Amino acid sequence: MTLLVTGGSGFIGSNFILNWLESESAKVTNLDLLTYSGNQDNLADIELNKNYNFVRGDIGDTELVKSLLLELKPTQIVNFAAESHVDRSIHGPEAFIRTNIIGTFHLLECVREYWSSLPDKEKIDFKFLHVSTDEVYGSLDVDEEPFTETNQLKPNSPYSASKASSDHLVRAWNKTFGLPVITTNCSNNYGPYQFPEKLIPLVILNALSSKQIPVYGDGKQIRDWLYVGDHCSAIRLLLNRGITGEVYNIGGFNEVRNIDLVNRICSILDELKPDPNGSYTRLIHYVTDRPGHDYRYAIDSSKLSEQLGWKPSESISSGLEKTISWYLNNLEWLDRVNSGEYQNWIDNNYKERK
Ligand code: NAD
Ligand code: TYD
Repeated sequence: MTLLVTGGSGFIGSNFILNWLESESAKVTNLDLLTYSGNQDNLADIELNKNYNFVRGDIGDTELVKSLLLELKPTQIVNFAAESHVDRSIHGPEAFIRTNIIGTFHLLECVREYWSSLPDKEKIDFKFLHVSTDEVYGSLDVDEEPFTETNQLKPNSPYSASKASSDHLVRAWNKTFGLPVITTNCSNNYGPYQFPEKLIPLVILNALSSKQIPVYGDGKQIRDWLYVGDHCSAIRLLLNRGITGEVYNIGGFNEVRNIDLVNRICSILDELKPDPNGSYTRLIHYVTDRPGHDYRYAIDSSKLSEQLGWKPSESISSGLEKTISWYLNNLEWLDRVNSGEYQNWIDNNYKERK
């Protein structure tokens, strides 16, 4: 068996590959364009692993993808490659359209051509797993039921609209061409190797650098947090036993208000790395809200748990402790990320917020 992973140098993809190589003997190839969020440091420990192979390239580069498919003959593909940050999609949506919509379209076409050429038995065993997000379902009010797989897609940001478009394409390639696909819609992830443009690593980095911790709007928005290792275990289960043509929600029933989450991170840091200047909460600052800010995400993953027995292994408390300890033990990783392009982004996103 050979696995092709796209976007494997980013946050979730690199966790997935590291986790995969710990327990599987099958080879994995990572096709990644190494945009700002792709980081080769994440996979430095497996560079020499004979079961791991890296190819730098774009999922939208049909010549490259076609020749890679013919060379590798993958039995499964997991598509993580994407532009993934809502704030960046507000500042510059074009890259989101290019990778998440057009890139996914080209990838699907290449995979369809490859899959069509397989012998019948291999065709049946093949799987293309498309990694998507709960943000495609839009925003919930406080008293609404969590998103299920049958919710209408009602994306509100350029990011979620581009992911919803890609989900539609993936669905259509299954319905029209029979391509054996699975789509997953997962809630907010956190854990090691997350680029500090996203809330949790940004809070950790800013706290450790004694910088203001920016909380958008009133901080009462709610996200449903899942430890990245639990997302990876769900994907692996679905590669083994998921039904093609189906959509699966993934989430940990861990709804937390942003301000409460920020306070929890500060108090864990207060314990693990006390600052002589006082609690890290002193750095919290409310800033201008994100336009179109979704109020609440909450995901119902009972289909996955009832049909396949999946359940997350980390609670928000254990997951946060693990994550914060990882960043404290990997300050060099954080230092290297916290340079160059990253500083431009911070200036761009925060300088005009009051
Ligand atoms: P990330 O931004 O950390 O990583 C994305 C990776 O894709 C990077 O390595 C980047 O170099 C690569 N990439 C970007 N454009 C590419 C292209 N055209 N061709 C090849 N590679 C390209 O993102 P992430 O947080 O790891 O998210 C991975 C996937 O999971 C995304 O599809 C995202 O929508 C989805 N997702 C993320 C979350 C979350 O909380 N982070 C939650 C649910 C779903
Ligand atoms: P983020 O990590 O960007 O994920 P998403 O927008 O995909 O949910 O943001 C999580 C929540 O935290 C979201 O409600 C926006 C908020 N947020 C802040 O309050 N301040 C920040 O500096 C960032 C980056 C996010």
